[in-house]
Formats: sequence, structure tokens, C-alpha cells
Amino acid sequence: MSISDKIDNLLIKAEIGRNLTRTDIIALLKAPGDYSTDIFDVADRVRRQQMGNEIFLRGIIEFSNYCERNCLYCGLRKSNSSLSRYRMTEDEIIATAKQIKKTGVPTVVLQSGEDSFFSTDRICRLIEQIKNETGLVITLSVGERSASDFQSFQQAGANRYLLKHETASPELYKYIRPGCHLDKRMQCLRSLKHLGFETGTGNMVGLPGQTMEILADDLIFMKQLDADMLGIGPFIAHPDTPFAGIDNDDIELTLRVVAVARLLTRNTNIPATTALATLHPQGRLLALQAGANVVMPDFTPEIYKSRYDIYPGKTDTNPAEETIEKLKSDIQSIGRTINFSVGNRQIRPYQGITH
Ligand code: 5AD
Ligand code: SF4
Repeated sequence: MSISDKIDNLLIKAEIGRNLTRTDIIALLKAPGDYSTDIFDVADRVRRQQMGNEIFLRGIIEFSNYCERNCLYCGLRKSNSSLSRYRMTEDEIIATAKQIKKTGVPTVVLQSGEDSFFSTDRICRLIEQIKNETGLVITLSVGERSASDFQSFQQAGANRYLLKHETASPELYKYIRPGCHLDKRMQCLRSLKHLGFETGTGNMVGLPGQTMEILADDLIFMKQLDADMLGIGPFIAHPDTPFAGIDNDDIELTLRVVAVARLLTRNTNIPATTALATLHPQGRLLALQAGANVVMPDFTPEIYKSRYDIYPGKTDTNPAEETIEKLKSDIQSIGRTINFSVGNRQIRPYQGITH
């Protein structure tokens, strides 16, 4: 069979929902460049069939850029002494949540580095206050915590949790996140699923040392976990990290991973990540046409926004309201609309990971 027949068959198989093997996934990722359009088109059709034409919004508040970890790729790493650190006050966080509510965005993502100043109690208090005063659906993204902390967050009213696995290769993971272990990360994710959180995971594409086989394992992990949300973004080198100068301008491969994630996981919520929008002016729209169905406007107040400097160029200097207005007109041009409702994933009982 020619390569072209092989890829065509794989795409037919994927579109009708037959399971893709690891070999199939690798073949899709490695297929020559001129197959990208076909792969994106099939993922776009599966997205439409599974999730409809509407785009869901999540408002992010990056409430602390302190981090106790030293990930080699990230501008918030503890050793980056050139970063000016901030913590938003409870009042500031709540005022920002109210602004999200006012804009009509129904869910808030509270994101920070791994900052133990924000203890479990402090975070629970925040969740309760936001819940009482706004009724927003609350997503936390505050790194690894114990299962009992996760349970406390849930009891306080958190509904969702984002914890990207970053890479499914244990060796690469250990290298890029010194002192951390992939097993522990995966255990956190399983705890979250068992507790009934809508759970998000995801990876970076274009990391030094990453192979197509590792990317296939990322995708298989997302599927096996039965993750509800998938954040897939390109790695972007930050000048104040050990990965400075390792350029990655491969938006195409990231879009392929987004597309294959849609083909494999069917009805998950997949954001068009800010990192994709940073790497390419059309990055967000391209992702929305390659399987993605969510956008996460950044509501972090202007005075802090530029200091949440995970990777260069990240800051969307426009207020989130303007981003939403711009998005409205952009997505009209591709036949889509914004849905201002919560956009839960259809929940099925978690069966655990089977090997
Ligand atoms: N490039 C792209 N994404 C990054 N992240 C951190 N550093 C980078 C980078 N240099 C992402 C990680 C992490 C989140 C905080 O930001 O995936 O989960
Ligand atoms: Fe901290 Fe997360 Fe950045 Fe690692 S990736 S340094 S844990 S903010």
C-alpha cells in the first residue's frame, strides 16, 4: 500500500471512531507535510459532529507568579531572579472574578505557580467566596497537591482541575522538571478523576529531546486517563531559562497533535491555547479549525499580566473583553459562534487506567 493510501485509510478509520493504535498515531504525526490539511479537516469534522459549532470560553486569573519549582522550560521557575513576583490579594481576585461574570463568561480558571503561600485553607476560602459572590464554575490550576487537598477544594466548590502532564516520557519529564516524577503527576491526575473533577491534562510540543513516539505516548495517556480537557501548546523558549535559544517555530506539529487528540478522544474540551496564538498570528483560529473548541481569555489585571511571563510574547495586552469581541468577529468568518454557557463535558463514570 502506498503512503497515501495508508494515510487515507487511517483518516477514514479515525473519522468513524475506530480506535487508533500507537503505530497509527505515529504514522499520522509523521505523515508528510502535505497531509496536514487532510488531518485537520477530518479533526474539524469530528469536532463538529461531537461538540457542535460553538466555542466555549473560560476566563483565566493568574493570581500568583511565585513558584517553588525549577522547570527548565518555564519563566516562572524559582531560579529566575529577573522576574518581578506578585501575588494578587483576595479582594483583587474576587473583583476580577466578578468582572468575568459581568462579561458573561461562566467559568473561571484560577492559575498560579506552585506557591505554598496559597495554602489549602486560603484557596478553599477563595473558592467559597467566588462561588457565593458570582456562582461561576471554578477550575483550579495550582499544581500538584495531595489527594486530601483536592478533596478539600472540591468540598469548597471547585469543579474542575487542570494539571498538564507536560510529557509522557518519564526520562524527559525528570530532566525538564528537576526533582519531580511523572508517576506522581499521573497519580495526582488519577486522584482528581476518581474524586469526580472534570480533569484537564496536556503537553508541550517541540521540547528538546522529544520524539514522535513520545508525542504518541502523550496522546495515549490523555485517552487512557479519560481526561475531560486537553491543553496542547507549542514549547516556546524563554531567554531567562536553561532552554534559552532553543527555537521552536513548528506550529504545524502542534496543530497535528491537537487534531489527533480530537480524533482519539472525541468529545473532550480542547482549548486553542495562548501559546499557539503567541507563536502565530492566526494560531488560535487555525487550532479552532483543527479540532479545538475552547478559548481562554486572560482576565489577569493589566498591572500583573506581563509578569506572568511563562514564555516570551505571551501577553495579550488587550483587555479580555476586547479579545472576546475580536474573537466574535473572527469566528463568524469560519462559521462558528460563542456559547456563553458552562460547557461541561458529558461525564461518564471513570473506569481507571487499563493497560
Ligand atoms: N513554552 C510553552 N509552554 C510553557 N509552559 C511553561 N513554560 C512554557 C514554555 N516555555 C506551560 C506548561 C505549564 C503551563 C504553566 O505553561 O505547559 O503547564
Ligand atoms: Fe512552576 Fe509550573 Fe512553571 Fe514548573 S511549569 S516552574 S511548576 S509554574
